[in-house]
Amino acid sequence: MEQNTQRFKELQPGTTLYGGKYIVEKTIGEGGFGITYKAMQQGLNRPVCIKEYFISGRCVRDTAAHTLQLQGIDDATFEKYRQAFVHEAQTIASLHHSNIVEVIDVFNENNTSYMVMPFIEGRSLQKIVEQNGPLSYNDAVNYMAQITNAVGYIHDRHLLHRDIKPDNIMITPDYKAVLIDFGSAREFEQDKTQMHTSILTQGYAPTEQYTRNSRKGSYTDIYAIGATLYFILTGQVPIEAAARITEPMPEPKEINPNIPDNANHTILKAMQLKPADRHQTVQEFMNDLLGSPLQPTDSKIVPPTPPTPPTPPSQPKATTPPIPTALKSTTTVPPTPTAKNEERITPPSNKPSNFLTWSILCTIFCCPALGIPAIVNAAQVDSRWKNGDYEGAEKAAQKARKWFWWSVAVGLVINTIYVIAELS
Ligand SMILES: Nc1ncnc2c1ncn2[C@@H]1O[C@H](COP(=O)(O)OP(=O)(O)O)[C@@H](O)[C@H]1O
Ligand SMILES: [Mg+2]
Repeated sequence: MEQNTQRFKELQPGTTLYGGKYIVEKTIGEGGFGITYKAMQQGLNRPVCIKEYFISGRCVRDTAAHTLQLQGIDDATFEKYRQAFVHEAQTIASLHHSNIVEVIDVFNENNTSYMVMPFIEGRSLQKIVEQNGPLSYNDAVNYMAQITNAVGYIHDRHLLHRDIKPDNIMITPDYKAVLIDFGSAREFEQDKTQMHTSILTQGYAPTEQYTRNSRKGSYTDIYAIGATLYFILTGQVPIEAAARITEPMPEPKEINPNIPDNANHTILKAMQLKPADRHQTVQEFMNDLLGSPLQPTDSKIVPPTPPTPPTPPSQPKATTPPIPTALKSTTTVPPTPTAKNEERITPPSNKPSNFLTWSILCTIFCCPALGIPAIVNAAQVDSRWKNGDYEGAEKAAQKARKWFWWSVAVGLVINTIYVIAELS
């Protein structure tokens, strides 16, 4: 009986999938929407990576049969997201870029779906920095060049990745950077307001990702690219975007003085809170990072120094770093001369006071008809501010104050009339 109640969340080593085509070796990752395994592909005898659609906390597994059962989620909702997972697999399968993970199979089994990718040997950028410390400027530029190339490719196809971060970038033993985890990727139309679900990684997601229906565009991924560069050069995750309104983010150079000025400037520009102040394309970002427009040259790609031995951040070089070949095909746009002089809008430094207590008092003692709208608006101030809708929070606070004063005024008149009537 005891044995029957023992349940494993993940598939156990040795489990076969897809009619014996794949044999699970071990679990390598567990996220909110999926469990990732290393497995062996029989026949070709090669390692693969299999991602299983599994909603954490909403799925349990019948250990004997391996099948998923739902808890606290209805079939229709599970099915909707399962289809999105399959759509994700089909989207990645349609992408062909050497710096983007491939999808080689997708299938349904155990009441859920699976996508199969080649197994990428190596470590994620997150692991490399955690284990070896911040990267040198040249290594960072080489990896960023490869990643921005991949991101430019998906932006050209009207896709946003929406979860770019060091944990989703694998580095192979021959220093190739590969972008993985397209679980949050969505189609987009630049600057159109779209109902994207809010999935985000704190520190890497810009404020527009905190709200479902705000405008998103290539600048949304560019914030995350800037934050990734911040992390790999400093070893510190940037302060999350929502908190930066009240808490200033230390400049990368303050943490690591070896970071060259142009890299420091590029990161800060990519991570501007207001989308219009950021680079608008990955080419613009790379041009800024390299300090000059890229020229088609015959300079060779310089392999980054091996990530294994711990290396202190290198001294900034006076010269422009070598141009990675990966960039040559895509980078043609020189930085706009006005880019550095763009108007910077500083976010409001203080949250507007919400007037909630005063509005409630007014409703009770002055005029309920005018006090209630004051309460309704006051109640929205904090939540809007938290969601990054600073303008909305300010407007709600203004309305709350307006209704409050109307309520006080009308309350005073009514009470005065009442007192005069009583006395006469
Ligand atoms: N193709 C792959 N090859 C090797 N390791 C992978 C591969 N895809 C993912 N991983 C590893 O599994 C982890 C989780 O995978 P990921 O797709 O990022 O899912 P999630 O973050 O949603 O759990 C990654 O951080 C990486 O270490
Ligand atoms: Mg991931």
